[in-house]
Amino acid sequence: MSVLGGKKILLGITAGIAAYKTASLVRLFIKLGADVKVIMTPASKDFITPLTLSTLSKNPVHSTFYEKEDENELWNNHVDLGLWADYFLIAPATANTLSKMVNGTCNNLLLATYLSAKCPVYFAPAMDLDMYMHPSTKNSLAKLQSFGNILIPATSGELASGLVGEGRMAEPEDIVSFIESDITSKLPLKGKKVLITAGPTYEAIDPVRFIGNHSSGKMGFAIASAAANLGAEVILISGPSNQQIQHSFVKRINVISADDMYTACHKYFKESDIAILSAAVADYKPKNKADQKIKKKDTTLTMELTPTKDILASLGEIKEHQFLVGFALETNNEIENAKGKIKRKNLDAIVLNSLQDKGAGFATNTNKITIIDKNLIEKPFELKSKVEVAKDIMNEIVTKLI
Ligand code: CTP
Repeated sequence: MSVLGGKKILLGITAGIAAYKTASLVRLFIKLGADVKVIMTPASKDFITPLTLSTLSKNPVHSTFYEKEDENELWNNHVDLGLWADYFLIAPATANTLSKMVNGTCNNLLLATYLSAKCPVYFAPAMDLDMYMHPSTKNSLAKLQSFGNILIPATSGELASGLVGEGRMAEPEDIVSFIESDITSKLPLKGKKVLITAGPTYEAIDPVRFIGNHSSGKMGFAIASAAANLGAEVILISGPSNQQIQHSFVKRINVISADDMYTACHKYFKESDIAILSAAVADYKPKNKADQKIKKKDTTLTMELTPTKDILASLGEIKEHQFLVGFALETNNEIENAKGKIKRKNLDAIVLNSLQDKGAGFATNTNKITIIDKNLIEKPFELKSKVEVAKDIMNEIVTKLI
């Protein structure tokens, strides 16, 4: 998944010939799963129609402060648009608009929205080469960057005037990759490796039967997505689970038993910066696995079980720089038991869920957690979807690390 997936992108279009390329730009953002709204300066409508852009973006296109609809005047609230956006891109950005942005002029909806926007603002200039080289344009580019706006430089090539030189708006594909890499490079877990375990483990009784549990893997998979969305390189070691994950930063390793999970965790732990063990690992396995299917008899069957290796505790023993997080699913004396596990397993934090809480536990889509750190400080959270809980867990880890 792209870092732009699910993000709200406001595209501001000004009156340059490169405006015709914004149709592709909108398509590319939509393909990546972004939500796109478009604002046009009135003059830019001579270069591309609002209908094209509203059809592609699936949202109305705004250009003026007021619009007529069925005899009613509607106000396009620039403050709302500015606050709505996760990212604001102005492309093409003409010399005229750049200069107005420098001076805080706001004589159209696009400029007023720019002044109201709190999100990162990218701008992709487009103009003829002499205009691009002019000291006043250079001054605008420098000033706008000093305000914190992000320049997507124009490229060299043939210009609408027929002249060849610098001033062409970057190609739509390059604008999109520029923004993606810029966002990725600023993510808090960029360059960090995160190991996550998820799901149940199956302990074989014979070739067809096993001891398992009802863990769905949802929590661990949600944590893997949340970590990857913060820029981390994720190794997700999963027991048998139907969950799917499509994220270029996540490498999924499938395992079956606690022993397999132990081996996989030890393979990747040394190079990890953070390890979050959310899997519901079986505590016991059959002492002897039958090579053939066990036949039914009329007598009772007794099976001897032996403890599995405690993966979390084993990582706690060899931990160096890693931030190690365990999970505790408890039914009674929850806080006390969880705190005991922090000490016993040498953890940096534990995520506690209590089966006493409605909506917490295995197969649900929700969870209610308390995070306890190694200083035994407790932080309770509300009942939330597992996706939101995963974000809380990752944000908590990030604040502890940074
Ligand atoms: N865990 C593990 N390996 C195991 C068992 C558990 O890595 N063989 C991890 C789980 O992934 C979880 C944590 O240990 O992060 C807590 O598991 P839990 O079963 O609650 O703890 P136990 O130490 O087994 O204690 P108890 O069963 O007494 O609650």
